[in-house]
Amino acid sequence: MAAKKSFYKKIDSTTELKLIAESDAQAIFQLIDNNRPYLRQWLPWIDYTQSIADELAYIRTVTAQYQEHQSVACAIYYKGTVAGTISYHPIDWANRKVEIGYWLGPQFQGHGLMTKACKALIDHAFDDLKLNKIEIRCATGNARSCAIPQRLGFTHEGISRQAEWLYDHYVDLHLYGLLVSERKKIA
Ligand SMILES: CC(C)(COP(=O)(O)OP(=O)(O)OC[C@H]1O[C@@H](n2cnc3c(N)ncnc32)[C@H](O)[C@@H]1OP(=O)(O)O)[C@@H](O)C(=O)NCCC(=O)NCCS
Repeated sequence: MAAKKSFYKKIDSTTELKLIAESDAQAIFQLIDNNRPYLRQWLPWIDYTQSIADELAYIRTVTAQYQEHQSVACAIYYKGTVAGTISYHPIDWANRKVEIGYWLGPQFQGHGLMTKACKALIDHAFDDLKLNKIEIRCATGNARSCAIPQRLGFTHEGISRQAEWLYDHYVDLHLYGLLVSERKKIA
């Protein structure tokens, strides 16, 4: 079967979403490696990303998932430089829903990059993939992450207790949901 066309979305004059490719491995790994203590506060996979080979293995997994219509994992490019990533967790086709996960290098925070990137993946999920629901889970205490679904008009659906193991402790996760029928809420 022919390979699927690569996902690409220009968000504005400075910001682009590109399907993560093996050629991004070095830049993504460097951004993670330079910001380990910061990212480790909220992301459970940082300690498992110790080399470019680890990053390449991740990229190969998400590339295969993309080809199988299971995921879309994007590098966020800001002024031509990788600023972070945003991706769907494997799509739940039976229930027509998907969860979005994301991170930015700290130097790229505060410009609205992630809010805009989320809007782009929300549009893709509803308009192109015809999904019914998008979920975002954020640790209680991760105020910057929670602010994204709040800003985008998601509904707070509850807190899942001790839902994620973060190296040496469990964290509770806020669950935010957006239904296709609620999209009018997004500016
Ligand atoms: C979560 C994370 C991506 C949020 O980053 P962020 O920069 O706060 O989010 P955005 O890129 O959407 O930017 C929002 C900020 O830009 C400002 N902004 C500027 N222009 C904006 C625009 N056009 N639209 C939205 N916000 C805009 C907002 O006011 C906000 O700033 P404030 O927090 O000072 O009010 C980042 O903190 C991160 O990567 N954390 C570590 C990893 C992590 O926690 N991942 C999530 C796990 S659930």
